[in-house]
Amino acid sequence: MHRRTDGIVIAIDGPSGAGKSTIARLLADRLGYIQIDTGAMYRAAALLLAVAGVDLDDLVAVERFCADLNIELDVVSGRQVVRGNGVDVTDQIRTPEMSLLTSRTSTLKPVRDALLKAQQLMGRRGGVVLEGRDIGTVVFPDAEIKFFLSASVDERAKRRFEELTAKGEPVTLADTIEDVIKRDRQDSERDIAPLKQSDDAILIDSSRLSVEDVLTVMMEVCQNKIKAMESLS
Ligand code: DC
Repeated sequence: MHRRTDGIVIAIDGPSGAGKSTIARLLADRLGYIQIDTGAMYRAAALLLAVAGVDLDDLVAVERFCADLNIELDVVSGRQVVRGNGVDVTDQIRTPEMSLLTSRTSTLKPVRDALLKAQQLMGRRGGVVLEGRDIGTVVFPDAEIKFFLSASVDERAKRRFEELTAKGEPVTLADTIEDVIKRDRQDSERDIAPLKQSDDAILIDSSRLSVEDVLTVMMEVCQNKIKAMESLS
């Protein structure tokens, strides 16, 4: 394991719409850690592949494209910014179409290999909260803390629907439920790094919990672990 000079690695995995991004951002803020939204990285990769017109069935072409792929996460004036090959793609990657496309492109081995390497490099010093689907199982199986954040399909679809309508997206609740079910299936049934709870992850069901409730539980776990690690060093 690379020496963690900046703190511990905290993994938050779970299905789409469970509240991972909000929770990861707040948790990272409170701990003075960096948030790494790996879903945003997969979304940026999907967008760039689509814009470049790469044939997703041609894995050699996908691999060639991924060799020069550069995805950066940044915070500018308190807002997360995602750049793909130097271009700000923050808003473009958040549409329902991009969600479904990303669910597909994230099954491709060249895409996963490229982003796995980038994520391991970004997090290896510690002091990070990584959120995604395979952080505790594949990216950082040695993470000091692993959470698996889940919620019922109805609750997750309701949250996503409210988020999209607030942005003026013309969606229906029925369509959103269908999308959530479809993405769950694609994310958990793929061959490489499927969405799966790690055996040593702490399961939190957020269906009936507020953001603050979830944070309280997580902060306690994190502070205890950080204190225990500090007393060892
Ligand atoms: O968390 P999100 O909804 O922004 O993720 C978008 C897609 O990316 C999702 O369908 C699954 C995929 N993803 C993945 O395969 N592995 C990750 N570590 C993070 C996201």
